[in-house]
Amino acid sequence: MAYPYQIKSLEEYQQNYQQSVMDPEGFWANVADHFYWRRKWDKVLEWNFKDPDVKWFTGGKLNITENCLDRHLGTLGNTPAIIWEPNDPEERHRVITYRDLYNKVCQFANVLKNNGVKKGDRVCIYMGMIPELAIAVLACARIGAIHSVVFGGFSAQSIADRIQDAQASLVITCDGAFRGNKDIPLKSVIDDALIGCPSVKKVIVCTRTRTPVSMIKGRDLWWEDEIKQVETMGNPPCAAEEMDAEDMLFILYTSGSTGKPKGVVHTCAGYMVYANYTFVNTFQYQPGEVYFCTADVGWITGHSYIIYGPLSAGATTLMFEGVPTYPDAGRLWSIVDKYRVNILYTAPTAIRSLMGYGLGPVNHKDLSSLKKLGSVGEPINEEAWHWFKDHIGKGRCPIVDTWWQTETGGIMITPIAGITKEKPGYATLPLPGIQPILVDENGKEVKGNNVNGNLCIKFPWPGMLRTTYGDHERCRTTYFATYENLYFTGDGCLRDEDGYYRITGRVDDVLNVSGHRIGTAEVENAINMHAGVVESAVVGYPHDIKGQGIYAYVITERQVHDPELTKKDILQTVSRIIGPIAKPDKIQFVSGLPKTRSGKIMRRILRKIAEGELDNLGDTSTLLDPVVVEEIKRGKL
Ligand code: WT7
Repeated sequence: MAYPYQIKSLEEYQQNYQQSVMDPEGFWANVADHFYWRRKWDKVLEWNFKDPDVKWFTGGKLNITENCLDRHLGTLGNTPAIIWEPNDPEERHRVITYRDLYNKVCQFANVLKNNGVKKGDRVCIYMGMIPELAIAVLACARIGAIHSVVFGGFSAQSIADRIQDAQASLVITCDGAFRGNKDIPLKSVIDDALIGCPSVKKVIVCTRTRTPVSMIKGRDLWWEDEIKQVETMGNPPCAAEEMDAEDMLFILYTSGSTGKPKGVVHTCAGYMVYANYTFVNTFQYQPGEVYFCTADVGWITGHSYIIYGPLSAGATTLMFEGVPTYPDAGRLWSIVDKYRVNILYTAPTAIRSLMGYGLGPVNHKDLSSLKKLGSVGEPINEEAWHWFKDHIGKGRCPIVDTWWQTETGGIMITPIAGITKEKPGYATLPLPGIQPILVDENGKEVKGNNVNGNLCIKFPWPGMLRTTYGDHERCRTTYFATYENLYFTGDGCLRDEDGYYRITGRVDDVLNVSGHRIGTAEVENAINMHAGVVESAVVGYPHDIKGQGIYAYVITERQVHDPELTKKDILQTVSRIIGPIAKPDKIQFVSGLPKTRSGKIMRRILRKIAEGELDNLGDTSTLLDPVVVEEIKRGKL
C-alpha cells in the first residue's frame, strides 16, 4: 500500500484515534517512520504549553524537499507533480513531472546560493500562481532558507511590514500576475515596498506578464538570466541542506485581534509529517488521482495542500493561476472536465458566488471524474453544502468540511472522505492526534454533548505553530495565556448530541471575509490614517457571498460634504495600507460611537446594528451617551 498510515475504515479511525490519545508518541513515530530522514529522531515529543515550548522529533535530521522530490524520482519520475492551468484558457497549460520539478528546484536553489542566500536567511516571495512560485518555495526549503510568502493582494505597505519584521534579505517576485481580467503589477508594488526595507539586497524577477518594470542596477535580477548562469555552470546538482527537525521551515503572516499581523512559524519535521498525514487521510488520496485545491499559495491552505502535503505524498497537484469566474462562472468545472480531476478542495465563498450563476455554467461539463470534495476557510452554510453535494458531486462524492488554521499547519477537525460520517455545516470529528476541548469564559471545561464553548486543543500535534517570529511572548499571550495549559483557537464551537463539532465562528475581533482573516483593529488603523478621520469602529456582518462583510462606523473632523466621494477616498486609503481585500463593504459616518463610561467601544451594539437587529441591542444603560445609538440606528446602511 502506498500509505501504510492511511485509515481504511471507521473501525480503524476509532482505533487510531484511541491510540493517538493513549500513546501519542508511539502513534506519531509510526507515521514519521515512513519519511526519509538523514538521521532518525532521539525523542518524539518534548513540550509545555506554559512557555510555550513544543518540539517534535528532536535530534532528527532531514530536508523536506528530499521527501517531496528526491524520494519519488525512482518510482514517480515521469508522473506529473504539478499540472498548471493558466489564467487564460487559450494559453498552453504545463505539466511538470517529479523529475522536471526536482531539476527546476535544484536549479533555482543554485540561483539562490549564487546570490548569497544561506541557511536561516529569510526570503520574501510575492508572486502570482505560476509553477515558479512552487519552485521558489521549494528552492528555499532545499537550501534551508526560511520562506515568507506574501499573498499578491497585499499592498506595498503590508509587504514592507512583513519584510521588515522578518528582516528578509532577498525578494522573489514577478513582473506581474494575471488574475481574471486584471493584470497586477507585482514588481512595481515591490519597488514601493522596498523604499523602507534596507535588509533586502537582491530582488529576483520572474517574467510572466511582460509588463514594463524598472530594474535597479545591482539589486534587481531577472529569474531567466540567473537560470542561464546556472546552466552555463553545467547545471550542477544542489544537495539538500541537512535541517534539524525543529529548524524553521517558513513564516506566514496572519491577522489577529490586535496590532500588526504576526509571523506564524512552522518547523521542518513536524509540519511535514502533519501536512502529509492530514492530506493522505482527509482526502483518502490514491496514487494516480488528480487533486485540485483552488487556494492561493499566499495562504496556509496553499502551503499545506497545494505544495507540501500533496508533493510529500507523491500526488499530482493542479495549480490554477486564475479565478473561478473568468472567463466565465464555469471555469472550475471546465478545469475538472479538462484534467479529469478526482479531488476538488475549495472555499464556501467560491461555492456561494458560483451558485449565484445558476446551473448553466455547470451543465454540459463532464464532472464524472470527481470522487471527493472539500471545503475550507469558514463555516459552510447548508445551502452551499447541498449545492456542492448535488450539482458538483452529483450526490456521489463525500464532502470534507475541514476546520483548521494558519497556526495549526494542517487540518484538525474534519470528516475522512467516505469513511467517517458527514453532516452539513459540521466539521464533525477530530483527526487522530487532535484532542479538542470546549471551555467556558473562565476556562472551565464544558463536558458532555449538546454544549457550546470556546474551542481549545489540549495536547500538541506535530503541525502546530512553534512561535511568532521575533516575538515569542506574543505567541504565548495570543494562544496559550487565555486558558492555562490549552491552545486557544479563537473560535466558538458547538458539540452536538452525537459529539460532532460545528464551528460557529470567531469569538475575538477577527473577521473572516471570503475565507481571509482580517483583524478589525487593523482595518480601523488603516481608516484612521485617512485625513479628516477622527475615529472608527469596524465590525463584521453576514454577507451572502463573502460570509462576513466589513462594516465601518467612521467619525470625521468636519461634516462630510460628499459622502460617496469621501467613502471612496477612505477605501483607497485602506487599499494602500492593507490591500484591496480589507476594503469595507459599508461605511457609515457617525458623530459618536457607543462607549462605556471607561471609554471602551461597545462593539456588541455596533455588531447588532450592522446585522440589522435594531430592536435587540441588549443592555445599553452603561453607555456614556445613549443618544448616539439612536443616531447610528437611524443612519444604518
Ligand atoms: C479561521 C482560520 C485553514 C485555512 C484557511 C483559513 C475559520 C477555517 C473552517 C471551517 C468553520 C473555519 C476559523 C479559523 N475556518 N476553516 N471548515 N469551518 N470555520 O485559515 O486564515 O488561519 O483562518 O478560519 O474561524 O479560526 P486562517
